[in-house]
Amino acid sequence: MVPKTLLNKEIDITDIKQLYLLSKEISKFIKASDLFFLKGNLGSGKTTFVRMILENSGWTKAVNSPTYSLIQLYPLTSYSILHSDLYRTQTVENLDIEEYLETHACFIEWPEILIDWRGENTYLCKFSHTPTQRSIYIECLE
Ligand SMILES: Nc1ncnc2c1ncn2[C@@H]1O[C@H](COP(=O)(O)OP(=O)(O)OP(=O)(O)O)[C@@H](O)[C@H]1O
Ligand SMILES: [Mg+2]
Repeated sequence: MVPKTLLNKEIDITDIKQLYLLSKEISKFIKASDLFFLKGNLGSGKTTFVRMILENSGWTKAVNSPTYSLIQLYPLTSYSILHSDLYRTQTVENLDIEEYLETHACFIEWPEILIDWRGENTYLCKFSHTPTQRSIYIECLE
């Protein structure tokens, strides 16, 4: 579980270091079957967040944006991570995410088409940004 102290409040991530520290804290609590919906405008920092989660989870190789490949898998020692971007996807047909969810913590950008899905724990992470400020708001979905 992501600690309650990080939920239901606007967290300032204007400085990229703040995002790094937040992702480091969250990565301590991630496990398989966790589902993270990442919502926010283009360029609001969703991919950057996943990249930092991976870095803090022990992934040392490249992290590529899944915009074209749809799904990227990162096998780690204690759990694995799935990163997906559904920006160009209209239907959940042929999406294997549900199967992967059993063994992976899943981070989904542009999750609107599967926002009713639930993992063991499901988090909605809302990214906001203006030219001078960035923030993230995390809530746990029932
Ligand atoms: N907290 C931050 N502070 C400063 N720069 C940031 C921060 N978060 C992200 N950026 C920068 O913003 C740019 C876009 O970020 P990113 O690709 O993560 O956005 P995204 O939400 O995944 O966008 P898309 O919807 O297009 O996939 C990148 O150049 C990244 O380095
Ligand atoms: Mg992205």
